[in-house]
This record gives sequence, structure tokens and C-alpha cells, in this order.
Amino acid sequence: MRRYVIAGNWKMNFTPSEATAFINEIKPLVEGKNNCDIIFCAPFVTIGAAMEAAKGSNIKIGAQNVHFEEKGAFTGEISAKMLKEIGVEYVIIGHSERRQYFGETDYTVNLRTKAALAAGLKVLLCLGEVKEERLAGITNEVVGMQTKLDLAGISAEELKNIIIAYEPVWAIGTGLTATPEQADETCGVIRDVVADLYGREVAEELIIQYGGSMNDKNAAELLSKTNVDGGLIGGASLVAEKFNAIVDAAQ
Ligand code: 13P
Repeated sequence: MRRYVIAGNWKMNFTPSEATAFINEIKPLVEGKNNCDIIFCAPFVTIGAAMEAAKGSNIKIGAQNVHFEEKGAFTGEISAKMLKEIGVEYVIIGHSERRQYFGETDYTVNLRTKAALAAGLKVLLCLGEVKEERLAGITNEVVGMQTKLDLAGISAEELKNIIIAYEPVWAIGTGLTATPEQADETCGVIRDVVADLYGREVAEELIIQYGGSMNDKNAAELLSKTNVDGGLIGGASLVAEKFNAIVDAAQ
């Protein structure tokens, strides 16, 4: 039995005081809804305030990226050890916006993932095809390749601390959503590739989220699909009632 994981990716939104206000607003709404894990991934400087506000609740706070070196001359970067020391449990790695705007590749995504795991963090590993790839009919090959490259050298034991977020790039922030069937099919493809790499039993344990314009209206149908074990939510994670409705859909 896989457990639903409903995660918000705040992206570059919410100052510390805004995050405090938001967590205080959503905390009572999601209280006692323990049928899923609830995570918000905050900007680095906002993590502390969000964690403080979430204390004692069923809300966990994560980060949105991490560097792969332990320390040193990497201006502007944050290490896994730093995140771990302040009590961060989850980190997003490989988000398409990192890949698109900041030159992330499957190689650096893999390095970051290994560094995060080595420090004891749990990883929300994002991958997904762009519009041209879907239109060209090569989605399965693209996500299959990303899965293999991003997980290269990672053991089955380590995989237990990874959640894969399937995020079709054309559906992110566009209001376009993959149909529940498309989401289910592609999450299934990722699971099959993981089964090839690690065996079916391990693949059946892996949590695979869908991300890309998931909202209060479409969440229930997406989450009803066999291979969709949760959501990674951008825009709707900034609005308490909308995010709460997605949590409800996972109950
Ligand atoms: P939207 O929900 O705003 O489309 O963003 C999805 C996403 O990128 C989550 O990481």
C-alpha cells in the first residue's frame, strides 16, 4: 500500500512572514487529515519561519534545491548538511524550472540526489517531457531516459528515500493538465523503468506524484489513478482552501 504524498512547491513565493501567515491559515484546515503526507517546499530563507509555524502539526517543510558538493567555493549554493542541520526532511531536485532556466542536467540532478541522500534527506525528484516531445510521441523514451540517468548509481535501499514527481513541462503553470489517463500511463512507464532497474517489488513501493496544474477541481480524478500516488503542486499550493481541497481528495 503506497501512501499519498501531497506536496506544495511554493517556488519563489512567500517571504518568511507570508509563509507564517499561510501555515497558520492552513494548519487548522488540514489538521487530523493523516491519510497523506503533507509537505511544503519553501524558498531557503523562508524555511525557518515555515518550520516554526508548522511545529506540532502534520505539515512538513522541505527545500527546493540543494548543491552536490559538501562545502566550499560555490557562491550562492546551499549544502545538504546545512538543510539537514536546520531540520529539513525533504528537498525537491531536478525541477523543470531548474533544468530550463538554470542549466540543470540529468547529470547534476543525479549528483544532487546522491548528495541529498547521503546527508539523510528525502528527495522529490522531478522529471517530465516538454511539449514537443509529447507531440513527437517520444514521452515514454524521454521519461525513461531521465529516470535511468537521474537514478544512476542509487541503490534500492536509497530509493526508499526518493519520491518521483512526474511533471510534464507543458502542464506546469499553464493551466493545461495531463488527463488522468496520460498521468496514469506516464507514471506507469516510470514505474516500469524502475521495475527494470530494481525489480517489481521495489517499483511497487515507489511513490510517484503527478505535477502540472493540479488543483482543487482536478485532483480527485488524477489521484484516483493507480499509478498516481500524490501531487506536487505549484500555484494551488499558495491558496489555503485550494490546497486543502487537494488534501481532502487524498483522504
Ligand atoms: P503548477 O501547479 O503551478 O502548474 O506547478 C507545478 C509544479 O511545477 C510543481 O513543482
